[in-house]
Amino acid sequence: MSGLDNLINISTLERGLQLLGAVTAASTVFKVLSLARLYLSPSSISVNRWKHGNPYALVTGATDGIGFGIAEALAARSFNIILHGRDRNKLEARRATLQKQHPGLRTEILVFDVLKDPYDDIENLISGISHLNITILVNNVGGIPFMPAYINFTEFDSSQIDAVIDINARFLAHFTRYMMPILSKNGPALIMNIGSAAQIGVPGATMYSGTKGFVLSFSEALARECKISKTPVDVLNINLGDVSSKSTPTPVKFGNPLAKDFGRDVIARVGAAIASDRNTVTPHIPHAILFGVLKSLPEFVKVAFMRNIIQDARALHRKIFNLKEE
Ligand SMILES: NC(=O)c1ccc[n+]([C@@H]2O[C@H](COP(=O)([O-])OP(=O)(O)OC[C@H]3O[C@@H](n4cnc5c(N)ncnc54)[C@H](OP(=O)(O)O)[C@@H]3O)[C@@H](O)[C@H]2O)c1
Repeated sequence: MSGLDNLINISTLERGLQLLGAVTAASTVFKVLSLARLYLSPSSISVNRWKHGNPYALVTGATDGIGFGIAEALAARSFNIILHGRDRNKLEARRATLQKQHPGLRTEILVFDVLKDPYDDIENLISGISHLNITILVNNVGGIPFMPAYINFTEFDSSQIDAVIDINARFLAHFTRYMMPILSKNGPALIMNIGSAAQIGVPGATMYSGTKGFVLSFSEALARECKISKTPVDVLNINLGDVSSKSTPTPVKFGNPLAKDFGRDVIARVGAAIASDRNTVTPHIPHAILFGVLKSLPEFVKVAFMRNIIQDARALHRKIFNLKEE
């Protein structure tokens, strides 16, 4: 190769590296601006996008924790509320609390046990409220519906496998399918699916992680289907780490907000998420930071970190729920 060829090759390599550097820098600036827009600047779209007519928001698993926190935050923004749960007395009590906080608010309740009632009844359940102007659906019901919750996959029996799939994934899919025509008719409408940072794959919570991976992919795919078919329904996966609630009684500290405060974060952030064309959002800033760091760690550090997390979660459950040492 002649000296001239070498020179040309080096300058081509330099130009290539410069281009790569420019693309990387531009993509980093874009990501930083997009995050700043999401978390810091007032959004051109707020939850008011879905507040038209006499709007109702339907929240599943709304008698406790995050579901009730989101219901409270939506009621504070003048949405009428449909509370879903399995316990009629608890639903009536929560309904009374909301109405005391917001006289004039309209509320409905839906009683359906996601683990016991037949899914063929969902259509009938929904037909009782289909005349209402429901513009927001929050698919929140979920979790690990047995104790001890954090067991290894090999310890599961088949009914436990089914229960985790039913409460986190199967009910969500069936309920959403029946709700889609109603939301579409009432558009612009919004579906928020409460996912979990466990979608990353947490040992000791294998089934739960898998179903939250389903919630993420399901939300992203449905969001894109709606964009392509111009169905006026926005769809968002809500990603989160620990939130202090009935089933996750972690002490409130940095990164572990109260369910009520987390509910406010969700409602504050959904408009900006849709404005920036996202299909998934992590509404609580400390969760976003921790999740970002966790994702970028090398695998062996992730394994060590998650081993500690699950040990702590098991110890907390043993203490709070009086479980025996495994
Ligand atoms: N808290 C966290 O740290 C955390 C983290 C990541 C993701 N998440 C997700 O956030 C969502 C809410 O969790 P949470 O911590 O707020 O839970 P929670 O405090 O235990 O509340 C769960 C809600 O679901 C209802 N529910 C439970 N089993 C039901 C059934 N079989 N049929 C109908 N309703 C049922 C409960 O009703 P009862 O009042 O009758 O029990 C309650 O209203 C879940 O999808 C969970 O996976 C939570």
